[in-house]
Amino acid sequence: MCGIVGASAQRNVEPILLEGLRRLEYRGYDSAGMALVNDGALDRTRAVGKVQALADKLAEAPRPGVLGIAHTRWATHGGVSETNAHPHVSSSRIAVVHNGIIENFEPLRERLREAGYEFTSQTDTEVVAHLIDSHLGDSGDLATAVRTTVDELDGAYALAVVCRDDPHTLVATRSGSPLVLGVGIGEHFVASDVAALLPVTRDFIYLEEGDLVVLTHERYTIIDGSGAEVDRPVKESGLSLSATEKGSYRHFMLKEIYEQPRALAETWQGRVSADDIFASSISAEARELLDGVEYIHIVACGTSHHAGLVARYWLEAMARIPCNVELASEYRYRDPVVPKNCLFVTLSQSGETADTLAALRYAKSLGTGDGGYLATLAICNKPESSLTRESDLVLMTHAGPEIGVASTKAFTTQLLCLLLLTGMLERSADDRRALAEEIHQLATSVERVLELDNAIRHLAEEFVDKDHALFLGRGPMYPIAMEGALKLKEISYLHAEAYAAGELKHGPLALVDEKMPVIAIAPKNDWLEKVKSNLQEVRARGGKLYVFADAASGLDTGPGITVLDMPHVDETLAPIAYTVPLQLLAYHVAVAKGTDVDQPRNLAKSVTVE
Ligand code: G6P
Repeated sequence: MCGIVGASAQRNVEPILLEGLRRLEYRGYDSAGMALVNDGALDRTRAVGKVQALADKLAEAPRPGVLGIAHTRWATHGGVSETNAHPHVSSSRIAVVHNGIIENFEPLRERLREAGYEFTSQTDTEVVAHLIDSHLGDSGDLATAVRTTVDELDGAYALAVVCRDDPHTLVATRSGSPLVLGVGIGEHFVASDVAALLPVTRDFIYLEEGDLVVLTHERYTIIDGSGAEVDRPVKESGLSLSATEKGSYRHFMLKEIYEQPRALAETWQGRVSADDIFASSISAEARELLDGVEYIHIVACGTSHHAGLVARYWLEAMARIPCNVELASEYRYRDPVVPKNCLFVTLSQSGETADTLAALRYAKSLGTGDGGYLATLAICNKPESSLTRESDLVLMTHAGPEIGVASTKAFTTQLLCLLLLTGMLERSADDRRALAEEIHQLATSVERVLELDNAIRHLAEEFVDKDHALFLGRGPMYPIAMEGALKLKEISYLHAEAYAAGELKHGPLALVDEKMPVIAIAPKNDWLEKVKSNLQEVRARGGKLYVFADAASGLDTGPGITVLDMPHVDETLAPIAYTVPLQLLAYHVAVAKGTDVDQPRNLAKSVTVE
């Protein structure tokens, strides 16, 4: 979703801003723009399409500046066009970039029109530029004008603002959308994400809700929501530059699929000993709290929601804890009944997903007494995200930066964290020991699954001319089928749907004919015989089957059925291992179709608006 980067320095900031935008490309966007302040002039350049299109325009007419803001836009209000791209400008002196949605932009626009402002875009953001301009007239001070402006806004925003007449000052503020302050030597920056600024600094301040920062190349001042000047800690980012680069891989997604053995190992190490889970690596306070859990609500979006759906099978079967899993966008607008001693769990790669954050805030608003939650736990991949900062307990997925829009290693490490949580809540020491032993083998199993890459690449060729695909699974493999279908949809634009195999005859069987590929996930488990019957139903209608199964499943390639031989994986861990070939399938179909694998059309990595 929209990305912001801004800088005040003693050198030309144009290349810094451009590199920052490139590093924010992964968030998903459709146009880009930059405004530079230089010698009493405000120069704005915007382009539809990739950041490279903006770079080409800037190269045609270079105008260096020591102060600037830049933006990648993911369209919400108004189509994809140059006039809707940010920065938005007012009175040729104010330039604004924005991530979020201003919900009351219509009445504000009317008021500003009556005051004589002309609107050139269809965006909600343009009102912010004009409002700041109108307030600047009153005080003459940019920070005061921005503060007065945001007091009038409803909705979510991260904003960065510069003014032609104040050639070193950048004002930025956030409420509901992420923003970090980068602290350099004789230069300061803001961005939506630390990754944007890694080439210029490692020192960051994670701005809090309501914070406003006034920065020049020399200094910065942070003012909190109440108007008081505050000190926020400067934290050094442990991210390496290479962690956010593709290296020798063709796409980030492929690199991230291949990083899974390491990411999984980093996620369990230090938490799982030879015979127990979280035996020592958890505070006494957290353990006491978790020991009191009698019910679990899991809330998330997209791929993270699928991880929650798998966890429900684990938590109920292994820890005997009733569990409800819900989409954050649904949860936040209903009036849920909260059982006694219920733990509220959010799952999120980014920790900034607007619906998930809103759901957390709603859950917290219920208090901890009757009708409220025992505590909140975030399972998240971004340590300094809003979600981790606002939750009582945090369990980090150590997946490392995930750049491809389609989530891969974040999903499998979320699954592992959920399994660790289940294992910890499991009462039987023997069962915990058995699970700990299996987890020690997980990375090796996933490495063996990756050896199927070539076979899956060949298989993918059969999907290139297809319009639809069905995914089938039972038990915990049903959410994995959902994840497989989502991956294929997201990056190859092929219509894919997942069904619990038992539901086949309640509708989807009507779609099955020789043109419909059906992908089934069939490891040896308690559901296998039922899955096999469902596969017969598909074959009987001429459907073409592609089955991921291990040798113990007893399924063989034959007419109308292609079996991909998976290595043996422990039944509990199978959802993690069986995700990997489905990621590879989606990846190779997308490559064969020539789609934009890492930045699929219309999608965003971090969905910071509702
Ligand atoms: C977007 C991403 C998905 C992700 C979902 C939830 O739709 O494209 O890959 O699963 O948001 O994101 P989160 O960061 O909360 O896991």
